[in-house]
Amino acid sequence: MLIDTDPGVDDALALLMAFNDPRHEVVGLTVAAGNVGLHHTLANALKLCEVAGVEVPVFPGCTTPLLHAAEDAGYVHGNDGFGDTGYTPSGRNAEDEHAALAILRLSHQHAGRLLLVALGPLTNVALALKLDPTLPERVARLVVMGGAVNGRGNTSAVAEFNIGFDPEAAHIVFEAFGRFDLADWEATLAHGLSHHDVDRWLACGSPRARFYDSISAKTRQWAGDTRGDRWHSADALAMAYALEPDGATEVAERPVAVELSGSLARGATIVDWQRREGRPDNARILLRYDQERFQRLVADALAAQ
Ligand code: BDR
Ligand code: CA
Repeated sequence: MLIDTDPGVDDALALLMAFNDPRHEVVGLTVAAGNVGLHHTLANALKLCEVAGVEVPVFPGCTTPLLHAAEDAGYVHGNDGFGDTGYTPSGRNAEDEHAALAILRLSHQHAGRLLLVALGPLTNVALALKLDPTLPERVARLVVMGGAVNGRGNTSAVAEFNIGFDPEAAHIVFEAFGRFDLADWEATLAHGLSHHDVDRWLACGSPRARFYDSISAKTRQWAGDTRGDRWHSADALAMAYALEPDGATEVAERPVAVELSGSLARGATIVDWQRREGRPDNARILLRYDQERFQRLVADALAAQ
């Protein structure tokens, strides 16, 4: 499994889930700007690997979207993306190789077996595709966290953050991959975690849970104040779908495209629910996931030593 990510508090939870899965080897983290700038997302990825005690190479990727500047999500994740706790930076270093090149190299090394999980803006993956359009031939499965399939956005009225941050990159990826799995923001909303449960799991005392408790405290507080009694962890749900796809209880296959222009709808994911345009289905859209299984994956990831 290769994870493209912009940590980010929910990215961190998803990464802990991946590190805890005995069936998948995480062969790299390719990091992009997104939730916050690259210097923070990269430092956060390195720190999380250190806390978790895993040896995974971390590759620095794109510092901006492909075309247009975009606002980050520091107001959700903290200015440093990890809750502004002032943690001691990791002593580890990132690799010299650029994320886009690492994606291509690892796709050759693990050709036909690679599970690519994209938890942030799709800039690195799009760049890799521009360098080598044959990438999809070597990827066994692509799972993307992104989009709002019925137009209920979280960064504009209709756009979800990862797609809205770099719509051109998402367009390139959605066009290039004949088939991919999509875990969108609306599925996230249907799979909130109760604050009570999360507090209980975080109290288990493992180093991973202690660190996660500290970096997520601010955003959980913010979520409680603004969204009620459930906490929504988009990347964690996407990772559950990636790790245990048979936990999906409802999936729809449809053509999905990205709106690139317009003053209101830029970055929207347009799903042709009624297949009016005659385009082939390219996305397997996650609609519902076994909630108990999702919760178990999260709780186990936090409890792992
Ligand atoms: C997505 O946007 C980011 O803020 C999160 O990390 C997640 O990947 C949710 O819309
Ligand atoms: Ca993310």
